[in-house]
Amino acid sequence: MRKLTVLFLCVSLNIGYVFSDEGMWLPLLLERYNISKMQEKGFKLSAEDVYSINQASIKDAIVRIGGCTAVLVSDEGLILTNHHCGYGVIQSHSSVENDYLTNGFWAKDRSQELPGTQTAAFLVRMEDVTDKILDELNEAMSERERQLKVIEVARKIETEAVRDTRYRAGVAPFYYGNQYFLFIYDVYEDVRLVGAPPSAIGKFGGDTDNWMWPRHTGDFTYFRIYAGENNEPAKYSRDNTPYKPKKFLPLSIRGVHEGDFTMVYGYPGTTQQYLTSHAVKILTELSNPHKIRLRDNRLLVMGREMEKNPAVRIQYASKYAGVANAWKRWIGESNGLARLNAVQRKIDLENQFTAWVNDSPERQLKYGTLLDEFTGIYNELEHYTLPRDYNREALMAIEGVAFAGRFQNLIALFEKNEGEEKIQVEANRLKSITKAFFKDYYQPVDRELFEILVREYYFNISTEFHPDFYAEFNKKFKGDYSRFANHVYSKTVFTNKAKVEALLNHPTKKSLKTIHKDPLYVIASQTSEMADKKINRQVAVLEFRLNGLYRKYTAGLMEMHPDKIFFPDANRTLRVAYGHVSGFTPRDGVYYKNYTTLAGIMEKDNPEIYDYDVPSGLKDLFNLKDYGIYGVDGTMPVAFIATNHTSGGNSGSPVINASGQLIGLNFDRVWEGTMSDIMFDPEMCRNISVDIRYVLFLTEKFAGAGHLLDEMTIIKE
Ligand code: ARG
Ligand code: GLU
Repeated sequence: MRKLTVLFLCVSLNIGYVFSDEGMWLPLLLERYNISKMQEKGFKLSAEDVYSINQASIKDAIVRIGGCTAVLVSDEGLILTNHHCGYGVIQSHSSVENDYLTNGFWAKDRSQELPGTQTAAFLVRMEDVTDKILDELNEAMSERERQLKVIEVARKIETEAVRDTRYRAGVAPFYYGNQYFLFIYDVYEDVRLVGAPPSAIGKFGGDTDNWMWPRHTGDFTYFRIYAGENNEPAKYSRDNTPYKPKKFLPLSIRGVHEGDFTMVYGYPGTTQQYLTSHAVKILTELSNPHKIRLRDNRLLVMGREMEKNPAVRIQYASKYAGVANAWKRWIGESNGLARLNAVQRKIDLENQFTAWVNDSPERQLKYGTLLDEFTGIYNELEHYTLPRDYNREALMAIEGVAFAGRFQNLIALFEKNEGEEKIQVEANRLKSITKAFFKDYYQPVDRELFEILVREYYFNISTEFHPDFYAEFNKKFKGDYSRFANHVYSKTVFTNKAKVEALLNHPTKKSLKTIHKDPLYVIASQTSEMADKKINRQVAVLEFRLNGLYRKYTAGLMEMHPDKIFFPDANRTLRVAYGHVSGFTPRDGVYYKNYTTLAGIMEKDNPEIYDYDVPSGLKDLFNLKDYGIYGVDGTMPVAFIATNHTSGGNSGSPVINASGQLIGLNFDRVWEGTMSDIMFDPEMCRNISVDIRYVLFLTEKFAGAGHLLDEMTIIKE
């Protein structure tokens, strides 16, 4: 018996088809592939309740917002997403005097709700358009012709689908172009900040606890969607009124228990379940280790300066979190893939595939050369892997370089002798970029990282990929990076707000010259020119060919296992992941419970450590055990884990119980399971959610924003 299970597990890991709770499913296809399985696991609703185009369904309560997901919780447009999803908006309204990041923000009434920059999109419907596209293609087409045709037909389908409507349409490929679906969205543009806890709650544990369990983060923020006339999307206006949704979710405070059914409904970004062994090898042995090391440097320097200076801490809070987040995920992913022996498993699968292919002359004709072709392309691609990574993670990661690089368009307009009007439009665009840049810019951090990252690039990337400025650097500065950095940062205008603004106020031929010879601009333009000529073009051609190979490969795998249902990789389209609440064993001798409580926050409390400085208001509530209707036997639940297959973009996704009620907000995965973007392991992969009871408790008891609860439907019994 034991042996059997193990075998099954291996097979599942190799192929990425359904076993346990793996998979992110298309809501349109639940009826066909998933609903009986979901019901077996306890789900009480029908596929039509989850997704319908004939009646209001749960899908109408799901919102795509920024890079995240949100869920409607009232009939007055109130939505919940994660604190880290609202972070940019909260930060943009913060200053040292009015520090909403540190203190939290709660609008006392609607007039105090703050405008944001994020849009809220609803999926109106989706449709399988595979035939419409494939019918226009034929075997004689080259990969390029095929791709161009696909784009042409897709554009036509999109245009027709939204003609005479306010909607937006997008056709997306699935299984590398074996299938295509059309998605129609209704996009609302006036989304306002309503309430956010202080970072000491919303980001409790900070980057120390990020991607980890046990976790105690109150990672939630309220926004409200506003609509114009007739409940239709409109730009921000004081006259707009709260959006009236087709559907919002009731919130259940009946709690979560081991084994309970959970459904995560949202917009996962990218997964790569079908990568071959070659790709996984490059990722784990080359790409990830280097990218991780480069970011080590950035985190060290930013972190040190943030600690020294509260203004810098606010300026760099969001940047630091962004850098740290992917950095830590890569580390977890590499560890997980190593533990799973992922490369070998992929090789095993490829061997199995080869044996199957060799079994029939017809298959040989179709797939016979496929794996050799993969090997060939990946051998070529490997040559560009580090140059490409270092281009992004070293040179273009230097703030000053990236900023200067944004002026390339302006220069191009001058060079093309475009009229004054176009130039002014571009200058205005750059003015707002400039304003945002300097709000969060601290030159000493940038200068120090310049020195480090320019050096890293030099020593790790072959001269073939060195932008021209390195030649001059060698001649003039003879390997002295510090002198080089001093020179660049004393000469450049791009670190001086007044000077940049002056240039943009009167963009003339003369300002063009200033920019043209500016050292940061020179570095930026030479870097992107080199990348375009020597990396990006080559990589694009290879990836183009790869896409064709993967299309065949995934089709081949499906043919090899005709009874299995393969889930499509995440591509930022709406998905359902179902699973159940479940603890797990991260390593020998350790078992992780499926939930955490407020007592754990108190255990971590340490005023000396920024990430663990529990607000006094929360301590008081803990000491009084003042948990209202949300506590359980004198404890206050905080977060829980479940087996749902999720990815980046699922942040803020509702976690829904068997009856279709909201029980939590997804915000993370456990570190031992972050390789699930490439290989899912039912033993180790868990998504992390904040318990809705903790959200409501904080809203009512901590923030005193109980009036928001009046809008919601709360299920108590
Ligand atoms: N790891 C989560 C995600 O990928 C949360 C990130 C934000 N939190 C943080 N401490 N940086 O988005
Ligand atoms: N925190 C992630 C996000 O922002 C979700 C966690 C994950 O990657 O699974 O989307």
